[in-house]
Amino acid sequence: MLKILLAEWARAKVTAKHVRHAVFIVEQNIAEADEWDDYDENALHIVASIDGNPIGTARLTSEGTIGHMAVLKNFRNQGTGSGMMEQIIKTAKQSQIKELSLHAQRSAEGFYVKHDFVIDGDEFTQAGVPHITMKRVLRW
Ligand SMILES: CC(C)(COP(=O)(O)OP(=O)(O)OC[C@H]1O[C@@H](n2cnc3c(N)ncnc32)[C@H](O)[C@@H]1OP(=O)(O)O)[C@@H](O)C(=O)NCCC(=O)NCCS
Repeated sequence: MLKILLAEWARAKVTAKHVRHAVFIVEQNIAEADEWDDYDENALHIVASIDGNPIGTARLTSEGTIGHMAVLKNFRNQGTGSGMMEQIIKTAKQSQIKELSLHAQRSAEGFYVKHDFVIDGDEFTQAGVPHITMKRVLRW
């Protein structure tokens, strides 16, 4: 059964690191130095698991920035990413965040469009990958 939980870094880090390492460092060949930063310590982390096995993660900062969203390859297109996004939106509204923003990999843009994010600005390269800033205004 799919479970989606919120946790601080101390509790989320083993799971989040496992998923982000598999997706960004191994699958996408992103450098370790580009994957880990100090924002993890203070962000809220979303962790998805099936039957206790971690399959997805993302983080939300107190400023409303979503980052490092990832679902293990074999578990994609089954609604996990959407479940995590719904949890992020619910949490952000509870925290009275007015706008969510993120740097989307161009290859994932369509996923965020499905969740009502719109492009804001021009394409740029981050960690060697083409990205675009996307935003969604929240009403609560
Ligand atoms: C992007 C990602 C997190 C989506 O997670 P997921 O669990 O596969 O997403 P869902 O199954 O909830 O998909 C929801 C919808 O978005 C669509 N979608 C998913 N990934 C997509 C993508 N990369 N591009 C376009 N549409 C996408 C699905 O087809 C589905 O559409 P539907 O509602 O019409 O059926 C996942 O594909 C992933 O980890 N990709 C690799 C890492 C990555 O690129 N992360 C984003 C960094 S910005």
